[in-house]
Amino acid sequence: MERNQETWQVAVMPGDGIGPEVMAATRHALEALPGPRLALTELGWPAHAWHRAHGEMMPADWREQLVGYDALLLGALGDPGPADDPGRYLLPDGVSLAPLLQLRKGLDLWACERPAVPMAGAPMPLSDPRALHTDLLVIRENSEGEYVDQGGRLAAGTPRETATQLEVFTRAGTERIIRHAFERATRRAEERRQGLRAPRYAAGDGGADAAVCVVTKRNAVQYAGELWSEVFAEVAADYPEIATHHELIDACCMKFVSQPWQFDVVVASNLHGDILTDLAAVLAGGMGVAPSANLNPADRSVPPLFEPTHGSAPDIAGGDRAHPAAMLLTAAAMLEWMGEVDPQAARAAVQLHRAVADDIAEHGMSGRGCADVGRAVAQRIRTAGAPSA
Ligand code: IPM
Ligand code: MN
Repeated sequence: MERNQETWQVAVMPGDGIGPEVMAATRHALEALPGPRLALTELGWPAHAWHRAHGEMMPADWREQLVGYDALLLGALGDPGPADDPGRYLLPDGVSLAPLLQLRKGLDLWACERPAVPMAGAPMPLSDPRALHTDLLVIRENSEGEYVDQGGRLAAGTPRETATQLEVFTRAGTERIIRHAFERATRRAEERRQGLRAPRYAAGDGGADAAVCVVTKRNAVQYAGELWSEVFAEVAADYPEIATHHELIDACCMKFVSQPWQFDVVVASNLHGDILTDLAAVLAGGMGVAPSANLNPADRSVPPLFEPTHGSAPDIAGGDRAHPAAMLLTAAAMLEWMGEVDPQAARAAVQLHRAVADDIAEHGMSGRGCADVGRAVAQRIRTAGAPSA
């Protein structure tokens, strides 16, 4: 028997810049879905305006407040204020963007998932028609690596000034993210067998149903790279049906551009994953269509954080000019996560994703305001009705 969760408690954090407008458009679409029941609670933080009023981006007890929710949906952060206002309230990036890292680390959301699948109607920078068959998922380590914030400035302001920046790679942290990549690859193989996902296109590894590529810079950043390679080989042994390969980060960037259709799941460190996912986003239509999920795959009681890969785009903020696709697809990713335990949410994820894809295929990405796109996607959901189970 099908079991739907009663009500999902979602903290909605529009943030700043274009965040509030893309979030408002997304709420229209969510409200048009026949289910699941979502209780959306809007928070004024983290945000530039909250800092202006309170001197901090988030209240000190943010963690206690957020752990009570099932999921967190964030718009965008980083707005330094209107560029043409000389009296604007300016915040350094290290302050305005800090909540992103605080939320990921403070909630131990150690896996970041960023898929890249080109959408008809969205920009496609590659001319090779095979690029249209790209369907890759970057799994970014989200809790350690280059982002541990360890180091400092010695003899600051003197000619001897020295900066140190430490990277930390634990075996446990490496193992869990690599295993998660194999679990996702296993699920994608199953989706392909069930016809829910397109078969792999021109796989260079003999046509396995799924593949995991591990990315390092082991030819120069040796200790971390070797640990990642060893752990990868150990974990891969538990998944004999999944094809595997290794790429150096520089070569991986090159191959993302020259042959992205060869990749399936790609697992990388925090910084390598950050870089690869901007590149992956542009291959799939740009930042305007790139969703992102931060999860703790070991513990569903920790609320995951869903946020588009894009930033706050202050140059176009407030003018109804942003396209909400990335936010809409991020909300679909949230529904997909809910759908792992709630079939109604799983169907809603498909509905929302399809409505966004159809809207972009018909209208492209420009020429309409943000709110209009939200209303059009909502209308499309209402007209299409529920997909068959
Ligand atoms: C991202 C962003 C952040 C990151 C920045 C804003 C700290 O680029 O979500 O990819 O590097 O993780
Ligand atoms: Mn980034």
